Amino acid sequence: MATTRQFHLAAHPRGRGIEEGDFRLVEVARPVPSPGEALFAIRWLGFDPAQKGWMENFADYAAPMEIGDVMRGSAIGEVIESHNPVLPVGSLHEGMMGWSEHWVSDGSGLTPVDPDLPPTAMLSILGITGLTAWHGLFVHGRPIAGDTIVVSGAAGATGSVVGQLAKVAGCRTIGIAGGPDKCRWLTEEAGYDVAIDYKAGEIKKQLRAAAPQGANVVYDNVGGATLDAMLGVIADGARVVICGGISRYETGGRPAGPSNYFNLVLRRATMSGFIVVDHADRFADMRRRLRDLALADRIRWQVDEQVGFEQAPATLRRLFDGSNRGKQVLRL
Ligand SMILES: NC(=O)c1ccc[n+]([C@@H]2O[C@H](COP(=O)([O-])OP(=O)(O)OC[C@H]3O[C@@H](n4cnc5c(N)ncnc54)[C@H](OP(=O)(O)O)[C@@H]3O)[C@@H](O)[C@H]2O)c1
Repeated sequence: MATTRQFHLAAHPRGRGIEEGDFRLVEVARPVPSPGEALFAIRWLGFDPAQKGWMENFADYAAPMEIGDVMRGSAIGEVIESHNPVLPVGSLHEGMMGWSEHWVSDGSGLTPVDPDLPPTAMLSILGITGLTAWHGLFVHGRPIAGDTIVVSGAAGATGSVVGQLAKVAGCRTIGIAGGPDKCRWLTEEAGYDVAIDYKAGEIKKQLRAAAPQGANVVYDNVGGATLDAMLGVIADGARVVICGGISRYETGGRPAGPSNYFNLVLRRATMSGFIVVDHADRFADMRRRLRDLALADRIRWQVDEQVGFEQAPATLRRLFDGSNRGKQVLRL
């Protein structure tokens, strides 16, 4: 009997970081495609901080995960057997295939991989990462040429795209990231005008020096003290975009409210959040625009590729200790 390996959820990591024991590696019978279906060999897994929330059943936009479920996650699979003409053998598709070596589907909810870009672009710049950057910046941040924008988590997969899109829109960009290497990458490779190392301390002082006229747009991926510091430098009419809050994903607790929140009143500013999958009806359009910028070499992205299916739990943890350099993927 042909078999395949899967990671099943073994515990809900609430109020703590992800541990190896939160997953169980199991060997099961390889699924067999029925008429109209295809069998996929999964080639890459994509990793998102949101997976922690899915494991905890924290997110109300995603179905609850039960103990014993295949770990949920995005992936790129190659068709290796097909009973469906729109899924030819050898074709690559992206979708929520989960942490499994093989998967069966009739093609519902899958997106064909773009043949003109590296396959992993479908998990990064053309995937939820790029779409999140686009939607959050243009729908909520509403940048205007000449604006100053501050982005936290700036060297990450989403934050690095936000900075480059803001540059395309004619903004001055300030990125906040952890450590000198990431900060060097921000200004030398990702096109940020200024990089701030939050691990070097005095983030408020660094921000005031970098944005003496204030920030017109704030794009926050981190929350907590970083958000508070950014709220301290908003300009009149600023748009504060809450994309994520990774600084609290491991503690599970609710951070103290930002002490600078009243600046929203004094500066006549707005603060709004979003869940990108609510806007799937616009994905094809956003993806086309991101693709054009990528093909014109006007936007770059980093992919951090780890190797080996059994490394999936350790690879997910890289997002929470800052080891990842750009979009975290795993090649099987
Ligand atoms: N709203 C939506 O629909 C939506 C959709 C997708 C993603 N998101 C959010 O977007 C954010 C970025 O996701 P991503 O996939 O692009 O991941 P990412 O930024 O590539 O990776 C996570 C990064 O977060 C930083 N980080 C981790 N723990 C931290 C802490 N305690 N304090 C400060 N920074 C910390 C690390 O960078 P440093 O080394 O610089 O600390 C790490 O590299 C996340 O908050 C995610 O939840 C939201």
